This record gives sequence, structure tokens and C-alpha cells, in this order.
Amino acid sequence: MFISFEGIDFCGKSTQVKLLSDYLLNERGFKIQNIREPGGTQISEKIRTILLDRKIFDMTIQAEILLFSASRSQLVQQVIKPSLNEGTVVISDRFHDSTTAYQGFGRGISIEYIETINRFAIDGTLPDVTFILDIDVETAEKRRVQKNTVPDRMESAGKEFFTRVRDGYLTMARSDKRFVVIDGKMDVMNIHKEIINEVENRFKL
Ligand code: TYD
Repeated sequence: MFISFEGIDFCGKSTQVKLLSDYLLNERGFKIQNIREPGGTQISEKIRTILLDRKIFDMTIQAEILLFSASRSQLVQQVIKPSLNEGTVVISDRFHDSTTAYQGFGRGISIEYIETINRFAIDGTLPDVTFILDIDVETAEKRRVQKNTVPDRMESAGKEFFTRVRDGYLTMARSDKRFVVIDGKMDVMNIHKEIINEVENRFKL
């Protein structure tokens, strides 16, 4: 099983990744490999620091997409493929759909290019199911203020950008059964229950 989580910043992905991992490990006895993007290998973590560096103002969108993809490619070959091959469940906090949503719909790079670059980077390793935790941009902004975190380079993009990213995710979900859209404003445990139901049905657990 390869399961990915997507959504705009502050949609609550990390909490749900943790809850699902704990459930599959403790209640179902699966071996779990958790990953987050960008990151997860020595090279990918170094690329992550460049991508999220708030002091970098002049990264071209071409460099941005290639760095995210380079990080992903390393992760696929070094961690995801070997894990799946030995029967470990891989749960990823973001994967290639983030590139389609953020660099494609958000930054405006042609979706045709994105699909080609994504295909090259993931090398056939497509998630079996992808949960999109959907929240509106105002809720995301409120959560950011509550958490009182300093926005990283990506989070510093404006409201219009995140509206395009959110709409992008919803557009992607409409055309592919791999996606499951969940209302990210629901209570944490209700979201978790929906996710478990979906995983159990899809994988016939
Ligand atoms: P991170 O701090 O991991 O955010 P989150 O917890 O919301 O996942 O930072 C990752 C940021 O990079 C996030 O703003 C989304 C963005 N991103 C892209 O723009 N393209 C991508 O392909 C990926 C994987 C992430």
C-alpha cells in the first residue's frame, strides 16, 4: 500500500498521517514507512532547506519544480521502492500531486510539463490512494496565525496563490478515482474514521 496525503498548508495532514500510521501499525500489525516531502533522504533534506529558505527571493519557477522533483526522485529510489518491495506500507505527507497543485495550478507552469516531469521523477511509483484534506484559504490563514509560526518561503505566497492551489486539488480530484476529498474542517477523529473506512474498503482489509 502506498498512501499519500495532500492539501494546502495547515490542512491537518501531519496529524492524520500520524493517526493512520499508528492505526495500521498497532491495530493491523503492518510495517510502516512514513515520509514527508520534500525530504526523507540526505540529499532530499538538503534540497528541502533550499526550497523553504525564506532568505531566497529569486528562485525561478523552473528551478523550484526541478528541485522538488529531484528531491522526490531520490526518495522514490532510495526509500519508497525498497519499502514497497518488502511489503511495508508507505505513507507520505505530500507527493507528486503537490507539484501539480503548487507549481502547476499555483505558479502556472503548464500541466503538460508537470505531468512529464512528475512521471520522470516518480518512475512508475504512483500512490494507490491519495487523501486531499480540503480547507478554505481563510481557515488555513487562521490556523497559521494561531500556531504563530513564521511562514517559510512557500507559505509566504499570497492568498490568491493558495486559492489556485486549493482549486487545483479539487479539479484533480474530479478526474481521478485515486483521490478522496475529505472536509478538513471536521473534527480530527471524524476525519481519521473516514480515512480508516476508505483504506479498509479500498484495500479490503
Ligand atoms: P512543509 O513545511 O513540509 O509544509 P506542509 O507541512 O504543509 O507539507 O513545506 C512544504 C511546502 O512545499 C508546502 O508549502 C508545499 C510546498 N510543496 C510544493 O510547492 N511542491 C511540491 O512538490 C511539494 C512536495 C511541496
